[in-house]
Amino acid sequence: MGNVTMYLLYLTCIFPLFTRGTTGQTTTSESSSIPYSNSYGTIVQKSCAVQTESSSLTYLVDTTGSMYDDFLQLKIVNSWLLDRVTARFPCGVRQYTMVEFNDPTVGPVRIAESKKVFGDFFNSLVATGGGDCPELAMQGLELALQNSPPSSFILVLTDASAKDYYNTTLINNIYSLIASTQSQVFFLITGLCGSMSDPDFLVYRNIAAASFGHVFQVSLSDLNKVFNYLDFTLSRPSNSSERLFSGEYTAGNNSGTFPVADNYTSLIITTDGVIYSIRVLGPDSIPLQLKKIISETWGSMYVVYNPGHGIWTIIIYAGSQYSIRVEGFTAVNISATADCSECHPNATCEESFGSVECRCRDGFIGDGFTCSDIDECAYPWTNNCSYGICQNTFGSYTCVCQSGFTLSGSACIDINECASPELNRCHSSASCINYYGYYSCVCPSGYFGDGFHCEVDECRNGPCGLGNECIKSIGSYSCSDPCTNHTVLNEPWRSTSSIYDYRYNCDNSKNGWYRFIGSGGVRMPETCSPEYGCGTLASIWLSGSHPRLSDGIVNRTVCSSWSANCCLWSSTVQIKACPGGYHVYKLQGTPYNHCTLSYCTDPSTVVNNTCAADEEWKLKDGSYGCYCKDKYAVTGVADIRPDLTCNVYDMSVTFHKCQLKTLSLDAASVTLKDSSCFGLHDDPSTNTFTIRSQLQAGRCGLQINKNETHAIYKNTLYFTVESTGIITRDEELVVTLSCSYPLDMLISLNTVVNPLFGSTNISVGGTGQLTAYMALYKDNSYLTPYEGSEVKLSSKSMLYIGVFVQGGDTSQYVVVMKNCYATPTANPSDAVKYYIIKDSCPNKQDSTISVLENGASRKGRLSLQVFKFVGNYTNVYVHCAISLCDVTAGSCSPSCTGFGSRSAAAEETYQLKVGPIIREDLFTTGGCIGPHVPSALLGSVLLLMIQALLV
Ligand SMILES: *[C@@H]1O[C@H](CO)[C@@H](O)[C@H](O)[C@H]1NC(C)=O
Ligand SMILES: *[C@@H]1O[C@H](CO)[C@@H](O)[C@H](O)[C@H]1NC(C)=O
Ligand SMILES: *[C@@H]1O[C@H](CO)[C@@H](O)[C@H](O)[C@H]1NC(C)=O
Ligand SMILES: *[C@@H]1O[C@H](CO)[C@@H](O)[C@H](O)[C@H]1NC(C)=O
Ligand SMILES: *[C@@H]1O[C@H](CO)[C@@H](O)[C@H](O)[C@H]1NC(C)=O
Repeated sequence: MGNVTMYLLYLTCIFPLFTRGTTGQTTTSESSSIPYSNSYGTIVQKSCAVQTESSSLTYLVDTTGSMYDDFLQLKIVNSWLLDRVTARFPCGVRQYTMVEFNDPTVGPVRIAESKKVFGDFFNSLVATGGGDCPELAMQGLELALQNSPPSSFILVLTDASAKDYYNTTLINNIYSLIASTQSQVFFLITGLCGSMSDPDFLVYRNIAAASFGHVFQVSLSDLNKVFNYLDFTLSRPSNSSERLFSGEYTAGNNSGTFPVADNYTSLIITTDGVIYSIRVLGPDSIPLQLKKIISETWGSMYVVYNPGHGIWTIIIYAGSQYSIRVEGFTAVNISATADCSECHPNATCEESFGSVECRCRDGFIGDGFTCSDIDECAYPWTNNCSYGICQNTFGSYTCVCQSGFTLSGSACIDINECASPELNRCHSSASCINYYGYYSCVCPSGYFGDGFHCEVDECRNGPCGLGNECIKSIGSYSCSDPCTNHTVLNEPWRSTSSIYDYRYNCDNSKNGWYRFIGSGGVRMPETCSPEYGCGTLASIWLSGSHPRLSDGIVNRTVCSSWSANCCLWSSTVQIKACPGGYHVYKLQGTPYNHCTLSYCTDPSTVVNNTCAADEEWKLKDGSYGCYCKDKYAVTGVADIRPDLTCNVYDMSVTFHKCQLKTLSLDAASVTLKDSSCFGLHDDPSTNTFTIRSQLQAGRCGLQINKNETHAIYKNTLYFTVESTGIITRDEELVVTLSCSYPLDMLISLNTVVNPLFGSTNISVGGTGQLTAYMALYKDNSYLTPYEGSEVKLSSKSMLYIGVFVQGGDTSQYVVVMKNCYATPTANPSDAVKYYIIKDSCPNKQDSTISVLENGASRKGRLSLQVFKFVGNYTNVYVHCAISLCDVTAGSCSPSCTGFGSRSAAAEETYQLKVGPIIREDLFTTGGCIGPHVPSALLGSVLLLMIQALLV
């Protein structure tokens, strides 16, 4: 693939040595440059008018499992190398070939034209397979040579010898491929299977020598040294080098000579073998200073810049068999105008034979026309900071010591900051402790602070008293009562009898004061707790007794049960008994600072209903407690919002005790204006108390306002508020209760101080307690009852009698006045009866009787003139037998047309009585019957008696 294209490119690019300047416009390198970032930082990338063919690069990579570590390092070094080559030789193009070999297979071969794709090939390599140490390196090399263009640069990456070295057919193929392609083979060996003199390793040296390559035996950490060299040889066009000399020698002193032509700007001298000394003499026989690229026991590489032309001599003293090779390199970055001014200021300029080569100085990278600073600190192998830390500088780097260290010679040594006050920030009273690389300051005992600041710790004298904690802070201290300042733990699993399967609760991060509440119990057990109990593995119990209130804060030992040992680990906690009967514990982690340990609670200490119904357990002002639920929360007396209820017989006001408690008030603080009359009902289930005021005129300080339609009742409650402080002040909180009722027969009874009425309790299935009333009213509104113990009426007065039923659910019942009659005594069975209503119907013989309402609602109304039924008795009582009639069973209105009404036999009747009614004119006329009505009165008395006989 891609071979045709590559060859065309190769042919067109093989001759030009110039990389730039052909267009003439690029007079300054900056104008055609684009900055870009790579692993060096920002360097300048050229846009190339002409691209130059460079040696193709082939990697033959051992992908057996043992290469895993090598890959990690090689991937980094490879991308660094490719970046660097691109920076040095920005306009070069080459074929990149990746050949893998494993055991027992070799391949695949992958070819790329961009370093990016090639980098991706490399990064996708996976080390796997193999097994025995030597691998199929030779078969792989044959494949690599077959797939690489002439003059390729082949790098074999392996950590093993070649197991296929004995296949002479194969080895011969390799040699003939090397001879025909002139490719150079380099071996980068990071391991050895046996000895360096084994034939499976020697084959590498022989092939390297024959191809003008080299065997690098490096540890992984030294890979960069090799890549430094690759960088030099890859950053140039093909055919820009010449093989000048090669020789194989045995141990001892040897020398060789070679001619150097005038077209070389550098020589590379490569040795392979253990060499003790090397000297190179130029044509003038003066020894040259060699610039070392690599110098290892197994071989070295040197570069000589601007070699003089003539005959050179090389003298070597070696400890074993060795080989030596010299290559000459021609100029690369040549100025088109042969003018040094084209070189970058940070490049050197070398003139030779009419051409000018620009070469970036050490510490810079580029093609000589542009040079960028190398960030030597970016890779460990590009700097030599064996001490301290690397800091990049322009064109170089420095090694600086970390803080706390100072440079002494070529080492960073610890600074003893405690040696002098200028070197540390410790407070004058603190002691300074020097450590390797840092120091610390410690306040003296009895002092508080971080060492940089120290102050006297007031807490050491216990200024907060027995039961309080002293908390020191900078500049002050505060006292905290753990009874009010603590965290609540309410987990049920803490109980020693907990049945929770989850056993991994861990308290090792608990730090501070805690209180146990809830269904698990409120105190720690004082006896050994079970292993695997309390929702944990090693449960913690209190080895000792709980303190009493007077003990204040005490120290106690807690133990944790594990390994059949009740107290395998123990530590100290602080405990305080609090008013209110609970305890708080200061926990600091667990006895053994590990999971899984947790503190237990004793299930026998469970306290139920700690909060009242209108309260809840919550955190307020930093402490937990029972507080009024939000809807009842108060901050002052003005917030007290009692619930007012207007009942038929009374009005009541209900206070939430939590509100009063918040203000330090209670039921005892409340009085009615008439303190003799105080109906207080305490309801623990709702945490309320209720004060009732009867709706009876003249009682309990009730005030009444009455108009034609309504009665408005008012009463006033007083709170005595004792304010805290030295001076006790009494404040009065006045709560006015006010209920307004539409006037009716009942309400109107309440509006008079001493109404005259009769009542009886009745009950009908399922209606609850009912009361039936009968009262006398002054007019036909039936809203102005008579008051007092008796009613005095003149004979001409009209009497208005009202009957009604109150209370319970009576919606389906109506009142039926069955029999209403007058008697001269209070006895309803008095033989003398004057009927007003009989069998639900009015007495037809008394035309003054008028029944306004009967059997139609919960009340009955009737009126009549007084004299007719009073007769000549002084006192008269009115009795009514009433029944409740179920309207859902048919009409209850009496039919008084003379044809009978609904049978009432089964209905229960209730007897009502009101009286006495005293006929006023009997007294005012001195016991005589008035002149104008004598016959009528007699008649009616007679009638009364006849009626009585009929009953
Ligand atoms: C030796 O190498 C040749 C060429 O690669 C190959 O065809 C042959 O199978 C190899 N012989 C053995 C025994 O592996
Ligand atoms: C360098 O010069 C020598 C002799 O003058 C010549 O053989 C050789 O090809 C030249 N090399 C290059 C790369 O130009
Ligand atoms: C060349 O490098 C020196 C430091 O070595 C620096 O001061 C100077 O500014 C550099 N010149 C340019 C053009 O980058
Ligand atoms: C409560 O205790 C904590 C820590 O023990 C403390 O920081 C805080 O100031 C205390 N709060 C009060 C109101 O005392
Ligand atoms: C309780 O223990 C603490 C250290 O844990 C100690 O400072 C303190 O003095 C002890 N208190 C008592 C009353 O022993």
